[in-house]
Amino acid sequence: MTRALASLGPANRAARHEETHPLTWRLRDDGQPVWLEEYQQKNGYAAARKALAEMAQADIVQQVKESGLKGRGGAGFPTGVKWGLMPADESLNIRYLLCNADEMEPNTWKDRLLMEQLPHLLVEGMLISARALKAYRGYIFLRGEYVDAARNLNRAIEEAKAAGLLGKNILGSGFDFELFVHTGAGRYICGEETALINSLEGRRATRAPSRPSPPPSASGASRPA
Ligand SMILES: Cc1cc2nc3c(=O)[nH]c(=O)nc-3n(C[C@H](O)[C@H](O)[C@H](O)COP(=O)(O)O)c2cc1C
Repeated sequence: MTRALASLGPANRAARHEETHPLTWRLRDDGQPVWLEEYQQKNGYAAARKALAEMAQADIVQQVKESGLKGRGGAGFPTGVKWGLMPADESLNIRYLLCNADEMEPNTWKDRLLMEQLPHLLVEGMLISARALKAYRGYIFLRGEYVDAARNLNRAIEEAKAAGLLGKNILGSGFDFELFVHTGAGRYICGEETALINSLEGRRATRAPSRPSPPPSASGASRPA
């Protein structure tokens, strides 16, 4: 999206502050992407630095629980509760963090705007989430038509890697996290979480037949317990 926000209506002409526009206050008025230097000038990665240097994983999960943050994919499931479903025993699995950026619902451009213009916001959010969940690898499952978002996210990932914000021993914390963009082939069902995992793992994008147990957050799409 290259149109200036000022052209989008009175609500977007209002001054944006962290308190009033928590997700969008860092957007530029000219609609150009906010790259790493500017993002950091606007307090970017301060939360990630705090999460890595000052907080235990359990504290991050607790804070997210207390915040009341909910998923925006339709179900509105409490994020902290979902995170609490991850098995405590780390030896049971390798942990991946998946971001559902399929956004196939007609006219839902909420994720696209952020990914195109504030790609570091997603990278930082995933870094904090990965830290909380002890995930060492993350994938952004991105709607294939979102060519600009893919380009900007990949550039943001490269910038973050070069600045020591992704990769090995992030900011000297001992924590490693790698992040990749995976573009989907364009089927609506890929946005459903179990179909998304199947597709990402190279299988046909079919939905798990019934509610899997344990939930996909703990086990993947179709693996037995
Ligand atoms: C047919 C179908 C399509 C879906 N498409 C999307 C989507 O494009 N993006 C999304 O975030 N969630 C989508 N969902 C919801 C996901 O299954 C899941 O609830 C959501 O990713 C969880 O988000 P959370 O981890 O933020 O709570 C879809 C669900 C169904 C049944």
